[in-house]
Amino acid sequence: MKILMVCLGNICRSPLAEGIMKTKVPKSFIVDSAGTISMHEGEHPDKRAIKTAANHGVDISKQRSRPITRTDFETFDKIYCMDIDVYADVVSKAKNEDERQKISLFLEAAGDHKNAEVPDPYWGDMKDFENVFQLLEKGCNAIKEQIPK
Ligand code: 4NP
Repeated sequence: MKILMVCLGNICRSPLAEGIMKTKVPKSFIVDSAGTISMHEGEHPDKRAIKTAANHGVDISKQRSRPITRTDFETFDKIYCMDIDVYADVVSKAKNEDERQKISLFLEAAGDHKNAEVPDPYWGDMKDFENVFQLLEKGCNAIKEQIPK
């Protein structure tokens, strides 16, 4: 199973989602993340995301930001988007129904009925990052249960 987490910059939300999901699935799974913009390409995750993950025993410090590519649509089985704008952008890049079917809104797939979007913490503070971590942790637990081994 190959899972791709996608947000805007690939330095805050999707690196956290990748790091958390990796702690929950078998080693044989591939879990990666990407952004819809290339502005932060090559950078490590935001320091606040690294610190928040570390507070929970998850190491995301070695990840590097990269933009989503055409081959991602072929490589990955599931593509989870952190918010509605990202979802719309990713869906617009899919070239056929097979690719479109791989794409979902992360919290919708997780069955979170309270929150549709993982809020962007980039302009916020450590509390916002912790809130994102909690949403992702709960969501990853739910998604992991639906994925075939
Ligand atoms: P992310 O957060 O999409 O969760 O990685 C953001 C990172 C960077 C920017 C916006 C959101 N930015 O505008 O540079």
